[in-house]
Amino acid sequence: MTTTITVCDTCNFSADLKLLDGKSGGEMLAEAIEALAGDLTVKRVSCLMGCERHCNVAIQAPGKLSYVLGKFAPDTDSATAIIDYARAHRASETGQVPYKQWPQGVKGHFVARLPAV
Ligand code: FES
Repeated sequence: MTTTITVCDTCNFSADLKLLDGKSGGEMLAEAIEALAGDLTVKRVSCLMGCERHCNVAIQAPGKLSYVLGKFAPDTDSATAIIDYARAHRASETGQVPYKQWPQGVKGHFVARLPAV
């Protein structure tokens, strides 16, 4: 079963800066994730309603727990951590990933966990 990473492509670049060189942080993070995602599904949306934080993403799969994460730097390190977490989510029957398997780069970025529908 696939796991989808949904990236808000209109999020601010950082807590203090909306755009960098005319580009949103969300657009930069989406590009970084799309470049590295391989066989994971990546979608873009414009606003996940977490706008008080910058660079928000959602990790989802049918019948599994969903997660919203934010406050990422829009760079390759963040993209790699998000993708590694999404792969662990895909491998998990419920979507729950044991803490010891969390990539360092997602720690401190969790915003919400939603139960499976
Ligand atoms: S602009 Fe990204 S969550 Fe609203």
